[in-house]
Amino acid sequence: MKPYKMDNIKVLVVGGAGFIGSHMLKMLHKSGIHATCLDDLSTGYREAVRYGTLVEMDLAHAAAIEKFFAENSFDVVMHFASFIQVGESVLDPAKYYQNNFINTKNLLDAMIIHNVNNFIFSSTAAIYGDPQYTPINEIHPKHPVNPYGRSKWMVEQMLEDYDRAYGLKSITLRYFNAAGADPDGELAERHIPETHLIPIILRVAAGKSPHLQIFGSDYDTPDGTCIRDYVHVEDLCSAHLLAIEKLLSEKKSRQYNLGNGQGFSVKEVVEEAGRITKRPIAVLVSARRPGDVPVLVAEASLARTELNWHPQYSSLGDMVAHAWAANKKLS
Ligand SMILES: NC(=O)c1ccc[n+]([C@@H]2O[C@H](COP(=O)([O-])OP(=O)(O)OC[C@H]3O[C@@H](n4cnc5c(N)ncnc54)[C@H](O)[C@@H]3O)[C@@H](O)[C@H]2O)c1
Repeated sequence: MKPYKMDNIKVLVVGGAGFIGSHMLKMLHKSGIHATCLDDLSTGYREAVRYGTLVEMDLAHAAAIEKFFAENSFDVVMHFASFIQVGESVLDPAKYYQNNFINTKNLLDAMIIHNVNNFIFSSTAAIYGDPQYTPINEIHPKHPVNPYGRSKWMVEQMLEDYDRAYGLKSITLRYFNAAGADPDGELAERHIPETHLIPIILRVAAGKSPHLQIFGSDYDTPDGTCIRDYVHVEDLCSAHLLAIEKLLSEKKSRQYNLGNGQGFSVKEVVEEAGRITKRPIAVLVSARRPGDVPVLVAEASLARTELNWHPQYSSLGDMVAHAWAANKKLS
């Protein structure tokens, strides 16, 4: 018998007012798990927190975070809160090191003081940098090429040290490209500015943008456009649920890639969006963008074997259709 019951545990979802965190709150609720959301609403939305209680607080305020942990007890902390724009991180690295690294340290330090030892961290494929081989597995060298990726990799290294010194156990999930939306159409992806391909294409389909700009069509890929690995937000969240079980039962720190192991080119995504929305998607091809690599695809078999993770929505059609249905409800 398991030494804990999943429906008895208390989970803190930091960054739960954002895209992925809000979906996580819903999945926890549906699984009968009590969750609290801590968020400063810097890039998230109050109305996205439909499940669980929202505590409005900024991780930058170390003393307030420490007091919060003194007054509340949690079994597991899930950490989705960070800034996520690669381009902005190059222009303003201080903002990224502050929020993604220093503020995460505030969170971890409060956890250590109050003996909360289970942590699930949202990391990213950006920690790997330019792929030395593809698909990318977890032992691929880590050479992030921008401050966003570096700030996330710094947290991963801090987690290793905190485990060794303080016994903090963590599961790090390295997402490739999060996509899709709540299949019920209740929650959606909302980033300002939006830098993710599928919602940008859907803005064109909805008549809110004149065209999609494709950066480079002369890459060494079958149709010349970049190939990325998209993973449905529901599948990301189901991996987090499995990570809770793994962490509580084995009490060992681990790192897993989360992707589908299959890439889609920009042109393929545009075609699929045209098919699903039945709207024309105008494209404008311009020069390559510095820093874009031709192919980024995950080797995610470790999550499948060790977490028993079986993505339900690996088809690009599902990801685009769910995002389209949810975005239409938003507007
Ligand atoms: N979206 C993707 O494709 C993707 C890919 C790889 C990794 N990730 C990681 O997943 C996580 C979630 O991404 P997302 O797309 O949901 O982002 P998001 O911007 O939608 O959500 C982040 C949430 O964190 C909150 N937040 C930020 N700083 C905070 C602070 N100092 N204190 C309290 N709350 C704070 C924001 O208000 C927001 O609600 C991030 O850590 C990101 O690095 C995302």
